[in-house]
Amino acid sequence: MADPMEDRITIELGERSYTVIAGEGLLDRICEVVPAATATQIAIITDGTVGPLYVPGLAASLRDAGVPVVAIEVDPGEASKDLPTVALLLDFLAETNLTRNDLVVAVGGGVVGDLTGFVASIFKRGVRVIQVPTTLMSQVDSAIGGKTGVNLPQGKNLVGTFHQPIAVLSDITTLNTLPDRQLASGLAEVAKYSFLRPDLWDKPLGQSAADLRGRDRVELIRVVRTCSRIKGELVSRDERDTADRIVLNYGHTLGHALESATGYGERYSHGEAVAVGMVFAAIVSEMTGRSEPGMRQRHADTLAPLGLPVRPFEPAPSFGDILAAMRHDKKSGGDLVMVLLAGEGKPVVARQLDESILEKCYHLLLEGV
Ligand SMILES: NC(=O)c1ccc[n+]([C@@H]2O[C@H](COP(=O)([O-])OP(=O)(O)OC[C@H]3O[C@@H](n4cnc5c(N)ncnc54)[C@H](O)[C@@H]3O)[C@@H](O)[C@H]2O)c1
Ligand SMILES: [Zn+2]
Repeated sequence: MADPMEDRITIELGERSYTVIAGEGLLDRICEVVPAATATQIAIITDGTVGPLYVPGLAASLRDAGVPVVAIEVDPGEASKDLPTVALLLDFLAETNLTRNDLVVAVGGGVVGDLTGFVASIFKRGVRVIQVPTTLMSQVDSAIGGKTGVNLPQGKNLVGTFHQPIAVLSDITTLNTLPDRQLASGLAEVAKYSFLRPDLWDKPLGQSAADLRGRDRVELIRVVRTCSRIKGELVSRDERDTADRIVLNYGHTLGHALESATGYGERYSHGEAVAVGMVFAAIVSEMTGRSEPGMRQRHADTLAPLGLPVRPFEPAPSFGDILAAMRHDKKSGGDLVMVLLAGEGKPVVARQLDESILEKCYHLLLEGV
């Protein structure tokens, strides 16, 4: 296989452009993406699960290159994406005398990535960050694009900044230790990209499902690179998420509503909720005449083999609860906004959808395919 360091994907953002490298065995080679004229020291931020697995190797290769490294672990899980943890990390960076020329490296899933990106964006008005995502979700989505942030008790991601990394290093070897449910959750976002840009996939994703669930290296690299390209293109066109980037919300209107109506607990992983949300969006696309019949079936044929649900778990929230949650979604701004498909690879943004049609579609969703 070609050297992954040679197969770089550029996220074009003018002076903020950067490279995504996806491949195997990259952690030992992090020095190759650390700028030469850099860093009197590097601060690694990780969590208590990922740290022991991957930080010793990463830190050793940086130290071998002569850069002093400090590292800190936060507790694993969404609860760490909060302001008290931000304060703890800022304290740590200040205590280690990190300067504006130094570097912060995020090693972990989307929680560590969002948190670290946020801290890096505000410490001394901004220090550079390298993202080293270790979940499929973060490799195909959250590590790319510069959205950072933490949650407030009032809601998710209510505090944040845009702070692009200077490089993203996606080592698929790290996915070997990822629990199956986390892998499947990332595969839902992969499926989303395949629905949005089927032209970039040489075969339907459903056909790769067994290989992906078995963590086939070649398939994983192919998928992470393809998704990184798609996300990168959208980010290049719409860095601040005011226009084209909204299509990445495909499946997320109902997905977020399911997560919120079930209290963001263990019930749904994010990807499971989004998978059901995409089937719902396909039904709405069909029922409002935007897409040809068959879209829902094609979604189910892709998602089910990936180990993802295609209808809500029982007992499902009532339509009333779902509607209230959809209206509350921060991205909808009070209006009901949904990304739909006007055919394969043709996302369209629908506003002011008729509630009675949505209710009918929700009942069709509950009935199953
Ligand atoms: N910034 C963005 O654009 C963006 C986009 C999508 C999602 N997000 C955010 O990402 C977060 C979710 O990210 P996530 O799904 O990666 O979850 P996560 O970061 O919570 O990671 C999931 C779990 O897997 C563990 N883990 C991570 N890598 C591992 C590995 N290689 N082996 C074993 N265990 C590992 C973690 O310790 C954690 O317990 C949410 O907070 C979401 O809001 C941000
Ligand atoms: Zn998502």
